[in-house]
Order: sequence, then C-alpha cells, then structure tokens
Amino acid sequence: MRIKDKVALVTGGGRGIGRAICLRLADEGAKIAVVDILEAEAEQTVAELKAKGSQALAVKTDVTQLDQVRACVQKVTDTWGQIDILVNNAGWDKIEPFIESAPETWDKVIAINLKGPISFCHAVIPQMMKRNAGKIITISSDAGRVGSTGEAVYSGCKAGLIGFSKTLARELARSKINVNVVCPGPTDTPMLKQATSGDKGARIIEAMTRAVPFRRLCQPEEIANAVAFFASPDTDFVTGQVLSVSGGLTMTG
Ligand SMILES: NC(=O)c1ccc[n+]([C@@H]2O[C@H](COP(=O)([O-])OP(=O)(O)OC[C@H]3O[C@@H](n4cnc5c(N)ncnc54)[C@H](O)[C@@H]3O)[C@@H](O)[C@H]2O)c1
Repeated sequence: MRIKDKVALVTGGGRGIGRAICLRLADEGAKIAVVDILEAEAEQTVAELKAKGSQALAVKTDVTQLDQVRACVQKVTDTWGQIDILVNNAGWDKIEPFIESAPETWDKVIAINLKGPISFCHAVIPQMMKRNAGKIITISSDAGRVGSTGEAVYSGCKAGLIGFSKTLARELARSKINVNVVCPGPTDTPMLKQATSGDKGARIIEAMTRAVPFRRLCQPEEIANAVAFFASPDTDFVTGQVLSVSGGLTMTG
C-alpha cells in the first residue's frame, strides 16, 4: 500500500476508466472521493469501495460548473482534511465530422474536457501549495497527441490538457507538486460503447483494434495502473510527462 491514507479525488469516478481508477487507488490504501454528474453511478462505485473496506465518499458534481467544483473540493477537504491526489478523468465526446458539428457541441466538449480539469486544478492547487505536496494526474487521450478522425474539438481539448499540464508542472515543481498525463487509446468503457453503437459500430471497433499493435482494446484497469504509478512515491521525481497506455497505438517521440 504505497499511498495509504492519502486522499484521492477522481472525477468521472462513476463508471468506465474513472471507476477502475477509484478501485485501484483504494487498493493502494487511499480514501476516495468519487465525483460524477451521475449520482447513482458514483454511489455504486462508493458501495464497491466500501465493500472492499475502503473509505469512500460520493460527491455529485458537474465539472463544467465552477461553483460546483469549488463546493466539491470544499466538501472533500472538510471530510478528510485535505486532497493529496487529484485525478481529472471525467470526459465526453460526440463523434462526427468537424464540418457537421454544431457550436453547442463544441461548447459542451470544451466545457467538460478542458475547462473541467482547469477548474479542478484551480480549486485544489492552493491547498497542495500550502503543504508543499500533491499529485495531479490528468486523463488526456492519444487523440490529443496524434489527432483522431471525427473528434476534432475533443482532440483539441485533449492536446490542450497536455500543454496545460506541462505548464502547471513547471510552475508547481517548486511546491513539490507532480503533474502528469495519461493518454488512453481505445478503451473498453461505456463511452466507447456509446460512440460505436450504430450500424457501423462493430466495423469501427474492428478498425480501431487493427490499428493497435497489440491487436486489442485497452481495459480500464490498465489505465488505472498508470494512474497508480503517477500517484505513488515511485514518481516523486517525474513531472510534466505524458504516458500513452494504448498497446503501442502512438509512438511519438
Ligand atoms: N474509452 C476510451 O476509448 C477513451 C480513450 C481515450 C481517452 N479517454 C478518456 O478517458 C476518460 C474516461 O472515459 P471513459 O471511457 O471511462 O468514459 P465514460 O463515459 O465511460 O465515463 C466518463 C465519466 O465521466 C462522467 N462525466 C461526464 N461528464 C461529466 C460532467 N460534466 N461532470 C462530472 N462528470 C462527468 C460520466 O458521468 C462518466 O461517469 C475521459 O476523459 C475520456 O476522454 C477514453
């Protein structure tokens, strides 16, 4: 247990990759704040965590609303005294050609995927700076590194998270706060199932799988392994780094 009694706040912890991250960090000994806009899903993850003997708290929050983000951080801090690990995981996308996309969709994609992590970082960092300690891990995407057809604005947000995190890593190193990024490739989650639910769904999954050198989808637990690595003391001297967990899909230098 390398992060025993640390407090981890995981956005989008109700399902998919976020749920796996919650379970994994709890296995490492952390107390987990499961933050999600879907209350029932967040409560379900909390029930699973408590069944394993972990301390857990569900906080219904819309990451696009700064007042809710601040209230969430306050609630977790009031409950457990501090937040040691912030995992920005909540995300959303609508796959379609950019030219057919509506401005309302751009706003939603930017609000959830880019502004959400910015808001959480702004709300959590001051207390980490006071303690001269903290780990921030943000879930971007291989789409943010190399682009992805049908995901133009989403890819822009995910690329933005990389630049944002590298800058925070530089600014916060003097406060001994580590900021790193994990980029999943296609991962077997409700988001992927929804995005590939139409007639062409099976063909899209097949094409995605073929593009991965390991020839399979990623499992949520494999992303959680990378997050646990960045949350642990093993990476105390690692900051501003971007780790793809995608079976070799991208190998950019
Ligand atoms: N699944 C993939 O193939 C894949 C690939 C690359 C990156 N990612 C990224 O991984 C992360 C997790 O994705 P996933 O596949 O588990 O998705 P998912 O849809 O299965 O889970 C996302 C979670 O985020 C929550 N969420 C969405 N909008 C929110 C909001 N406004 N406020 C609070 N919570 C909100 C959802 O309720 C859900 O519980 C996302 O950032 C996603 O962009 C996923």
